[in-house]
This record gives sequence, C-alpha cells and structure tokens, in this order.
Amino acid sequence: MTAGVRHNVSFETNNIVLIALVAILYSLFKMATVWRSQCAFARLFAGKTGQILNNATDLGTKLGPGSQSVISRKYSTYGTSPYITKIKEQYDYEIVKNPPEWAYVQRLLPFDTIPQVTPKESYPSGWVPPKEEAKSLPYFLARTKNHELPIYLNITYRGIRQITKIKRIEGDIWLLNDEIKQYLKEKNKRYVETRVHEVGRFIETKGDYVNDLVQWAHSKGF
Ligand SMILES: *[C@@H]1O[C@H](CO)[C@@H](O)[C@H](O)[C@H]1NC(C)=O
Ligand SMILES: *[C@@H]1O[C@H](CO)[C@@H](O)[C@H](O)[C@H]1NC(C)=O
Repeated sequence: MTAGVRHNVSFETNNIVLIALVAILYSLFKMATVWRSQCAFARLFAGKTGQILNNATDLGTKLGPGSQSVISRKYSTYGTSPYITKIKEQYDYEIVKNPPEWAYVQRLLPFDTIPQVTPKESYPSGWVPPKEEAKSLPYFLARTKNHELPIYLNITYRGIRQITKIKRIEGDIWLLNDEIKQYLKEKNKRYVETRVHEVGRFIETKGDYVNDLVQWAHSKGF
C-alpha cells in the first residue's frame, strides 16, 4: 500500500516536470518568434530612417577636415562621431559677408583672453578687487587668471574629510601660516590644524574655513 502511494506520487511529479518543460519550451519558442519579428521591424525601420537621414541634416556629425559622408547612425558621443565631407549637399547655406548683424553675433562669441577688470565702486557679484597695500606685506597671495582668490575646498570620503587649501603663496609662508592660524583660532574659538608645503607654496587647513580665509585675505588686501 505504501509502495503504491509512493509510486503514484513520483508519477505525478514526473508529469509536473514534463508539463513545466513543455511550458518553458513553448514560451521560448514564442519569445524567439516575437524577437525575430521585432528584428525584421527594426531592419525595416533602420532602412527607412537611413534613407531619410542620408539627405537630411545629421546633427550628430561634426563639420571639419578629413570627414566621411553622413550615414544614419546614433553616435554615443560627439567626440567619436565622424566628420562629414559633403557639406554643400548636406547643408543648404549661403555665405553673407559684413552685414550689420555681425555685431550681434560677435557679442555672443567667447572672449579670446580673460578681460581686464573695469574699476568700479562696487561689484554686483560681490567680487572684491585686490589692493595696492598688499604688495608691501612680507607674504603675498597672487590672484588666479580669473581674478579670484586661490582658496579652495577639497571634500573627500563622502564629506568626512574637508581640507581648505590656500595656493599661490609667495614670500614668508611660515609667517602667513602663523597669522591665519591665529585668525582662525580667534574667529572659531578653537585650534585649527594646518599643514605648510613650502615647495608647493600652499597651506592646507583641516576643516572648511573657505569663507573665513577669504574674509582674511580681503582684509589684508589680496
Ligand atoms: C536631397 O535634398 C535636396 C534638397 O533638400 C533635393 O534637391 C534632392 O533631390 C534630395 N535628394 C534625394 C536623393 O532625395
Ligand atoms: C583632494 O584630496 C584628495 C585626497 O587627498 C586628492 O587625491 C585630490 O587630488 C585633492 N583634490 C584637489 C583638487 O586638490
């Protein structure tokens, strides 16, 4: 009796396994047909867009020397996209010389060099110009090419490590170190660790003291 029951059970499990196998095979077959039809559709679609794109402006390709003709492709980046050669066929344009509108175009072009600062009473951005008196100090902080103070914040380890870096220091770096240490201690009511790199001409302070140091630099006239 027990043996018969056991036999029945195993027979049923065999059936279930068979049905499952058939179901899996069927679904695979269905997936394959769907995939094939999608492929066919994609091929058809690609052919269509290829024809359209071959005679239209392809904004994904760049103009320049040594380029190939435009093909219907989506380029992942602008940098790896090929140059186009048949510019006249691809883009219908005319060249206009010295119209009065050129002034408006020129206004939008980027500067070749960083412009000099025009002296003003105050600047709406909050930018502070360097003062002449700073040049007589035993140390000096040179402005960057963008006329900004060389004071930076480096955040690493997901915000845990914050290092304020003062760069482009000239003159007595150790005196400057003592003075900013004293200034930060008085302002924040605690000891602030710094690290001086004499050869690299920078000082790093432990913690975010960018605003304090910018204030200090402005007060000194840098
Ligand atoms: C491509 O476009 C131009 C103008 O846009 C047209 O004159 C020319 O016949 C087109 N060529 C083809 C092959 O469709
Ligand atoms: C910021 O600190 C990390 C770790 O010390 C360093 O690798 C990285 O170069 C620093 N970045 C800058 C801009 O100084």
